[in-house]
Amino acid sequence: MAAPRLGHPLLGLGLGLRTVHFDHILKHWPAVDWFEIISENFMDSAGRPRYVLDQIAERYPTVMHGVSLSIGSTDPLDFEYLGKLKRLAAETNPRWISDHLCWTGVLGLNAHDLLPIPLNEETLAHVVERIRIVQDFLERPLVLENPSTYVTFAQSTMSEWEFLTHMAREADCGLLLDVNNVYVSSVNHEFDPREYLENVPADRVVQCHLAGHTNCETHIIDTHDDHVIDPVWELYRLAHARTGGMSTLLEWDAKIPEFPVLHAEVLKARHYMSTLDHEPEAALAAASPRPTDDATRPVRGEGAAAKRAGAGVSNPIAYIVPDVT
Ligand SMILES: [Fe+2]
Repeated sequence: MAAPRLGHPLLGLGLGLRTVHFDHILKHWPAVDWFEIISENFMDSAGRPRYVLDQIAERYPTVMHGVSLSIGSTDPLDFEYLGKLKRLAAETNPRWISDHLCWTGVLGLNAHDLLPIPLNEETLAHVVERIRIVQDFLERPLVLENPSTYVTFAQSTMSEWEFLTHMAREADCGLLLDVNNVYVSSVNHEFDPREYLENVPADRVVQCHLAGHTNCETHIIDTHDDHVIDPVWELYRLAHARTGGMSTLLEWDAKIPEFPVLHAEVLKARHYMSTLDHEPEAALAAASPRPTDDATRPVRGEGAAAKRAGAGVSNPIAYIVPDVT
């Protein structure tokens, strides 16, 4: 059995590093446990972003989170990109490197989106082989995140949690468990997010993501532009209990508030780090987005956080890539 979190330490409660907060961080050195950077935002930058990152990496643990690996694509792996990734890691000493279980383009074209893959034996073998190659090249384990998805494939033969379980064990990689993504996909595809979390291999979960989203009535879009909603916090409580603790990171990529608002949001996680011994059924039921006859339970489009269709964007990557300098 793999060591919990692949032997990585618990980093505590961290925030995604965004350009708009550079000045605040350099001035106040806030008591954040760690920062996650978007790898692509610093790969080709020798200017101020890189200067700021170097300052921050001297004082805080950092993690590199990428959006361009395209591990699920049928295109050959991009070793020029991987070379830049490895070089940035050598220079900034992140605790680990993560990306997403997705594809971002084909035939050399970049879709600038995190696109889903069919979940079957064929794609599993394809992804596992590519993860092994990447890990050999980077000389470290890769950590992959469950994406938010908006479509499923007729060719899928297994659930996402089954795919992640096989992938993590066969490729010997780690998992970044985004509980907001689990919630978003569970509403869009009508599965039980609790079943998902109860079956993800807890010993492989290195890190957790939290974020807000946009409820468009008929579906949810993973916009990263708001506070974390209560059902997602309850899923976090369950994931925290199952894993025994995860390095926890808040993502906020659009309508980004002042830094103290972000910091206060991630600190809410402390409240959900308790065990499930307090009315666990009520807590878990509250986390279910599935339509039920209990009107208090969240369903598509209900609640104060619900917004109207068309308010969102297709994916938070749309906010990330333009930030690359
Ligand atoms: Fe995420």
